[in-house]
Amino acid sequence: MTQLPAAQTVQHSPSDGSRTLYGGKGTRRITVRDIALAKERGEKWPMLTAYDAMTASVFDEAGIPVLLVGDSAGNCHLGYESTVPVTLDEMTMLSAAVVRGTQRALIVGDLPFGSYQEGPVQALRSATRLVKEAGVGAVKLEGGERSHEQIRLLVESGIPVMAHIGLTPQSVNAMGYRVQGRGEEAAQQLLRDAKSVQDAGAFAVVLELVPAELAAEVTRVLHIPTVGIGAGPETDAQVLVWTDMLGLTPGRVPKFVKKYADLRAVMGDAARAYAEDVVGGTFPLEEHSVH
Ligand code: KIV
Repeated sequence: MTQLPAAQTVQHSPSDGSRTLYGGKGTRRITVRDIALAKERGEKWPMLTAYDAMTASVFDEAGIPVLLVGDSAGNCHLGYESTVPVTLDEMTMLSAAVVRGTQRALIVGDLPFGSYQEGPVQALRSATRLVKEAGVGAVKLEGGERSHEQIRLLVESGIPVMAHIGLTPQSVNAMGYRVQGRGEEAAQQLLRDAKSVQDAGAFAVVLELVPAELAAEVTRVLHIPTVGIGAGPETDAQVLVWTDMLGLTPGRVPKFVKKYADLRAVMGDAARAYAEDVVGGTFPLEEHSVH
């Protein structure tokens, strides 16, 4: 494992007096208006997933401005094989924990499979639970043109929406985990999807596993920020699944992931050291005891 240099917090101060998303001094929660201003300034920003209060508090303290309570919790936290089985009750519970663990980040709660596909009214009922019961500042849902009406009603009802196009893992049974937007026809469809979610009022759009050139074009064409995952360097923001980027996910991770730590090794070594201490009688010692 290569030794990483200690991260430095950069202090940014935009000339218009507004706050930057990363490295700014403000302590109030980031809002979707801050996100829109960042696009106007051409400022790039990081997003990470989080599924529990303690991990979320670490990322919040590190200044990550947007935390996604993704339904990737299905594979990365709840032990399912995909995101498909995740329920709205589970997302509400995890989102509430992440909100409780943070003070500054904008928390985006994912609408799980089956909680919005029936139509706008079902989407509003589900999103309302995440906003009222969990306290999220925005919700995310998958789909471009096919989710236009859902996004429109949520936004009209006062719920900020992050859209998600390209590879949409909730449709894994239909599309598999394949690069999307390859070839002229698929690229045109991706552009139509991107414009459709923007027209419906989404404040940002995730582009997952699409060619870098196409993601760059979508980013140029849209006035809302694009958040890339496996979409090259030219999107406005980037998102990674935290267990992938900190090396906790077992086995192979996708090519687009950069591993910033090896938590699986660190935690395994610590657990083995503890077990050996207990078995060998070197923990607890006098200093760990009360009398
Ligand atoms: O659920 C999730 O974590 C996501 C991100 C990969 C964008 O949708």
